[in-house]
Amino acid sequence: MPAQDACPVSHTVAILNGPNLNLLGQREPDIYGHETLADVETSCREAGAELGLTITFDQSNSEGELVTWIQAARGKAQAIIINAGAYTHTSVAILDALNAFEGPVMEVHISNVHQREDFRHHSFISGRADGVIVGCGTQGYLLALQRVATLLG
Ligand code: DQA
Repeated sequence: MPAQDACPVSHTVAILNGPNLNLLGQREPDIYGHETLADVETSCREAGAELGLTITFDQSNSEGELVTWIQAARGKAQAIIINAGAYTHTSVAILDALNAFEGPVMEVHISNVHQREDFRHHSFISGRADGVIVGCGTQGYLLALQRVATLLG
């Protein structure tokens, strides 16, 4: 990580994961790879430390819990990185919660949703997101962290 990307002031980034991402590594590995969500969390914490970012990392299968966590990030986290899983394609509630969050939002998808079924081509989150990373595997989380570091300056 180039030194100039590191944040001079410590910022907190909430990394939120939606339904079925707890099964990463076991679930459709041909699409999502063999890394577990715990592996992704470890990599994010390492990258966050290098960038001077404090990371919170959570996963829920519940839409309401994700909404609650986005609301809780207000005033506590300076940025959100979200892989909302299937709720990406269905949830106005998550969009509304993100619209109430003041800081940068990065949307991540491990797979290239645009190469998949038509219903995965629409995201309720993309219109709110400051950036969208798809199809870069779990590296997408690290790319999002780099972008957040740049946006938070
Ligand atoms: C996903 C893509 C979604 O369409 C899917 O429902 C997921 C994972 C991804 O990371 O590629 O659960 O968000």
